Amino acid sequence: MTAAPPFPTSPAPVPPTPQTLSIEGLTVAAGHDGAGPVLVRDLTLELRRGRVLALVGASGSGKSMTCMAALGTLPPGTRTLSGRVRLNGAECAPEALRGREVAAILQNPRSAFNPVRTMRDHALETLAALGLSGPDAEARIAAAMVEAGLDEPARILPLHAFEMSGGMLQRMMIALALLAEAPFLFADEPTTDLDLVVQARILDLLQRLVAARGLGVLLVTHDMGVVARLADEVAVLDHGRLVECAPVEEVFRAPRHPVTRMLVAAHLALYGLELAP
Ligand SMILES: Nc1ncnc2c1ncn2[C@@H]1O[C@H](COP(=O)(O)OP(=O)(O)OP(=O)(O)O)[C@@H](O)[C@H]1O
Ligand SMILES: [Mg+2]
Repeated sequence: MTAAPPFPTSPAPVPPTPQTLSIEGLTVAAGHDGAGPVLVRDLTLELRRGRVLALVGASGSGKSMTCMAALGTLPPGTRTLSGRVRLNGAECAPEALRGREVAAILQNPRSAFNPVRTMRDHALETLAALGLSGPDAEARIAAAMVEAGLDEPARILPLHAFEMSGGMLQRMMIALALLAEAPFLFADEPTTDLDLVVQARILDLLQRLVAARGLGVLLVTHDMGVVARLADEVAVLDHGRLVECAPVEEVFRAPRHPVTRMLVAAHLALYGLELAP
């Protein structure tokens, strides 16, 4: 007979899945010491599970900087001067969000891959962080790749980033984001390098993940058609400042800020208005 443990062993408490992720008062500046121009100024945004918040604005307005600062992955020569990230109201270090709480599809996929490691290495690493390995892991990787539009996982898994096209890398990044099964996703121009058929597939997939898994998405895009189709709310950046944040219907029907009006007018002139039902 084995001796009873001195204390009752209870499983480690499972932290509740966060329902909100907020970025508060984020200010990012250029320069190693942050003494250069301000790139993002006092920005506050809130993501909710099961909702898509689109972040739009001209090129250079600070969309990617916002995503990177919130995840603690700013490029050299830029610095966060102030701001915090909260999960369900509790402050959280940006580095602690990556992978576990927030999966990310970054704008420049090539820079996100380690050049000496294969796609299989990257995928296994993502799953190892979740405690998964072995044949189950391989099957999950293949399934996520097919979902992300990479139809031949066995051919692609042994490849390095330099052996793949931009569009293939973008899809691999999406597959890795799916594997992470994080409650939130930052998707920075997730479909820019993809052909229209794959674009449509990825957007369908995102929509399904939001509905089925309650994924909360920060979607950076230049495409107001994608905004109309996927977003619940829209945040508009202009020179690093948030100039408008409103439900998608309001942004299309009654845009307030001149930058928003310009984005909407350009879209309507080309495509007319077609909001998701
Ligand atoms: N490493 C860097 N050092 C200093 N400034 C930078 C650096 N990288 C980008 N910037 C500047 O930060 C500002 C915001 O850039 P960011 O990449 O966030 O724009 P964006 O809104 O994502 O644009 P795009 O739509 O073209 O992707 C730009 O003015 C850019 O020149
Ligand atoms: Mg960008």
